[in-house]
Amino acid sequence: MCGIIGFVGKKSAAPILLEGLRRLEYRGYDSAGVALLDEGSVLIRKKKGKIDEGLARLLKSEPVAGNLGIGHTRWATHGVPSDKNSHPHLDQSGKIAVVHNGVIENYDALKQRLLKAGHTFKSDTDTEVLAHLIGVHYEKRHGQNGKNGGENPLTQAVCDALREVIGTYGLAVICAGQPGTIVGARRGSPLIIGIGTGENFLASDANAIVAHTKKVVYLSDYDVATVTSDRFDVLNLGTDTATVQISNLEFSQEDAARGRHAHFMLKEIYEQPRAIENALRGRVDAEGATAKFGGLNMSVSEMRSIDRIVIAASGTSWHAALVGEYLIEELAQIPVEVEFAHEFCYRNCPLEKNTVLLVLSQSGETADTLAALREAKRRGHRALAIVNVVGSTIARESDGGIYMHAGPEIGVASTKAFVSTLAVLSLLAVHLGRMRNLPARRALEILHALEAVPKQIESLLTQNNSLKKIAKKYAKAEDFFFLGRGYTFPIALEGALKLKEISYIHAEGYSAAEMKHGPIALIDKNTPTVFLVPQDSMYDKTMANLAMIRARQGPIIALATEGDQAIKKVANDVIYLPKALEPIYPIIATVPLQLFAYHIAAARGCDVDKPRNLAKSVTVE
Ligand code: M6R
Repeated sequence: MCGIIGFVGKKSAAPILLEGLRRLEYRGYDSAGVALLDEGSVLIRKKKGKIDEGLARLLKSEPVAGNLGIGHTRWATHGVPSDKNSHPHLDQSGKIAVVHNGVIENYDALKQRLLKAGHTFKSDTDTEVLAHLIGVHYEKRHGQNGKNGGENPLTQAVCDALREVIGTYGLAVICAGQPGTIVGARRGSPLIIGIGTGENFLASDANAIVAHTKKVVYLSDYDVATVTSDRFDVLNLGTDTATVQISNLEFSQEDAARGRHAHFMLKEIYEQPRAIENALRGRVDAEGATAKFGGLNMSVSEMRSIDRIVIAASGTSWHAALVGEYLIEELAQIPVEVEFAHEFCYRNCPLEKNTVLLVLSQSGETADTLAALREAKRRGHRALAIVNVVGSTIARESDGGIYMHAGPEIGVASTKAFVSTLAVLSLLAVHLGRMRNLPARRALEILHALEAVPKQIESLLTQNNSLKKIAKKYAKAEDFFFLGRGYTFPIALEGALKLKEISYIHAEGYSAAEMKHGPIALIDKNTPTVFLVPQDSMYDKTMANLAMIRARQGPIIALATEGDQAIKKVANDVIYLPKALEPIYPIIATVPLQLFAYHIAAARGCDVDKPRNLAKSVTVE
């Protein structure tokens, strides 16, 4: 979704802002813009469309100087994508510029008030209303001495305006009358300060600034930061004092670069063996035949007393949650319920005393998932999280959790974070199981099987060319089914999601057994089915389901276990998976499905890393 970068220092700000915005492109956007302070004036350049064809060209033809500025990539919420709705927005005086992520819910009431006072607006956005509101307060504060934010009237004006605002925001503000200062604030939308030498940054996402600094401060909700080139001050609107902790980014600029791969998605698919190794590192306790974690913040007796787990997540992470249900119920015998995060929040689902909520999120910023976490905590339940992005809001607000350590995931279609989540969930299931009835032998079997996964994925990746051929063969299909049973049922859902989000082909994931209850009506010779049919406990039943599709002339692409000869007779194309334990198949079977979706999308000329209408991290509910 939207992205923010701010810079103040001695260098020319425009190239730094533009580069930062390019590093935020992966989040999804429809327009981009910058505002710079130059010789006492605020200068704005903004344009609808991709950065290279829009903003970058504009900055070439109409360059702007200045050592301080803010930039934004917009993902439309209020008002269509257009030049006028792009950020930054100015206040009535034209001296204050604002970029904003989030939604100002009471913007209409505020706008009516400002209209009555004679304000005129140039856009349809809630952000422009916020800019005007800050401008009104700045006029009042200018020249006054206030308590908050020291003597800086811009900080005071931002605080005053935010006290009137209902909604969510991550924002950055500059003002012609306050050269050398950027004010940032957050509530519900991430914002960090990047600390440099003689220069400082603001950003909604560490990727925007990792090329310049690894020292960051994650702001908390209601924090307001005043940032100059050589210092930053943070206050909190709720408590007046803010807790400021300097953290180090764990990844480098190179980790967030595409390298030799054509797309980030492909790079991240290829990074999966390392991602699994990182997820397992230091967590396998072979001696105790269990898994160990540093950050769950629960005693053994607390872990033992869990009698139900609700897993809440969204999108791909929700598919991981379904696998988690199978794993934890089988290995730890704890009842698990999987919820769409957005449904969990609003349907008053009963939670017994010893129920723990577990949320899964790559970004750690998904608004629906964050809301579920907060709802469980509000109701007095312990809320744990499995998260990739270190220091993200979900990571910081959960009572305890486990990091995936998958590294930055830039492609909008989640790949390595998904398999990393599955690896962590497998460890967690073993950990919980060993406190109950899981025999050491079975636990060790699972742990060793997990340790073998990186090599198995590497061997699957060597099939890339044959997968590409199969993908090309089906690239013109307009409808697909993905079917699986048991542990691979959630992977069928994930395979379908991957295909639809990057290739725009209509794809449905289903339980192979459920097809006969209705969807089989859609099968014909033009509707291929990807069948997950590994040699697991469901094999015979899945083969029977497959026969029903074949009988209706549906083309079949099968994912089967190596050595399975029978499948060749009934499937049009076969992709072989290495032999694995049943609970491990979800991780392994995911990889060819990712490559299949990738090659189909590439063959159709789709923008794989930035699919239409999608955002990497969905920070609105
Ligand atoms: O960052 P999260 O894991 O919380 O994101 C949840 C979904 O928005 C995300 O998985 C989405 O479905 C991806 N585009 C899937 O590829």
